[in-house]
Amino acid sequence: MEKAALVLAAGAGTRMKSKKPKVAHEILGKPLVNWVIDAALAAGMDGVVTVVGHGREFVEPLVAHTTVVEQKERKGTADAVMAAAEALADLDGSVVVLSGDCPLITSETIAALVEAREDSDAAAVVLTMQLENPFGYGRIVRDEAGHVLRIVEQKDATAEEAAITECNSGFYCFDAKFLFSALQQVDSNNAQGEFYLTDVIEIGRNAGRLVTALQAQDPQECLGVNSRIQLAEASRLLQARINTAHLAAGVTMTDPTLVWIGPDVTIAQDVELLPMTMLMGTTSIGEDTVVGPNCRLTDTVVGCGCVIDETVAVEAQVDDGATCGPRAYLRPGAHLCEKAKAGTHVEIKKSTVGKGSKVPHLSYVGDATIGEGVNLGAGTITCNYDGKRKHPTVIGDDVFVGSSTMLVAPVTIGEGATIGAGSVITKNVSPHTLGLGRARQTEIPGWKPKE
Ligand code: UD1
Ligand code: CA
Repeated sequence: MEKAALVLAAGAGTRMKSKKPKVAHEILGKPLVNWVIDAALAAGMDGVVTVVGHGREFVEPLVAHTTVVEQKERKGTADAVMAAAEALADLDGSVVVLSGDCPLITSETIAALVEAREDSDAAAVVLTMQLENPFGYGRIVRDEAGHVLRIVEQKDATAEEAAITECNSGFYCFDAKFLFSALQQVDSNNAQGEFYLTDVIEIGRNAGRLVTALQAQDPQECLGVNSRIQLAEASRLLQARINTAHLAAGVTMTDPTLVWIGPDVTIAQDVELLPMTMLMGTTSIGEDTVVGPNCRLTDTVVGCGCVIDETVAVEAQVDDGATCGPRAYLRPGAHLCEKAKAGTHVEIKKSTVGKGSKVPHLSYVGDATIGEGVNLGAGTITCNYDGKRKHPTVIGDDVFVGSSTMLVAPVTIGEGATIGAGSVITKNVSPHTLGLGRARQTEIPGWKPKE
């Protein structure tokens, strides 16, 4: 391995006031720690090691695709890095240390840190930021010539050092061999009685190694999440970052602050997203489709030229030219074929609605296979559940089902059949017949209401 990332994710985050550790909290459906890991992977790391500790039962499943090591006690950032010493023993090259609670860090900045270190063969390159209010951060102490000397923590800083506005972001790239040997020399003789990772900067300097700083282009990238307020702030920034990229790529949003798009969503050109739309998971939207207002699509594939209005869809597929809503609910396995329609107050689960077929109003369709050119009247319901098991309904091409019909599964309606309105269909209906299952209407002549 030549390049690895080390993600520190052992902290509790007490200010979150949560049973979950801080790094397990999500932004746009992705836990904080995964934003950081994904940025590291996108920056071309050969491996990622995650240091877990507090609430590891929550964090470990999220980072199982990385090498997971445990920090037994929280003795400081140097101790946290030390927990990865064995896992990175073979690393001869760069190790980037990242905080698991900084979801805004970009792969570009991580790559720039690595490049800066490798170009100069520095022992360490620290990412720094200029802050108007540096309180709480470690300060970068430089000599008259501007060389980085050391990092001093807020609680250990003299008044003169506390006046420095260049701060340690908590992101670094180290020469891995240097880092793990320098960590042996770190002690806890400081105001907090902690083992400070930042001490290795001075150790490098004293050993005659080059130590440099890279100033972050955008200090927002280093924003850490310590509270729900900062979680909301980071969410808004990531929302804006993602939406700006889609706008630039040819997606229309009337109000981008009212559209939430997950990091793994793909959207084609000339898609229009109306307010109060959430696109989550691995959802993808094809060209010229309009989504919204009031839509939430998760892991759903939508084709081109569709109109999706006030719809909730989960693990569904909507093919070209299909329409949904207002107020449609597509559940897992719902598949609307080309130009099909799921209209108002319609719920579809694990069913295929064939090409050009329509379920326009007030229906439930579950475990059904519907052919092409079918029309299900208002209030059609597939009674797929007998209280114990689910049963299938099969509807052939060009079937017309009258309103308020119960199709009691398992049942098959043959091609071209018509079902009279108000029927309860319990037996198969042959192709090209009229199926009726309802009481006949009668008239009682001369009937008068009682006085
Ligand atoms: C650290 C830096 C400080 C910098 C700041 C930026 C040190 C000594 N100081 O301070 O210079 O300005 O980050 O945010 O490093 N962690 C563990 N195990 C531990 C301690 C921490 O995993 O024993 C993790 C935390 O969960 C967090 C990260 O390391 O993800 C940073 O720890 P934190 O306590 O927030 O460091 P700061 O005191 O803020
Ligand atoms: Ca702290």
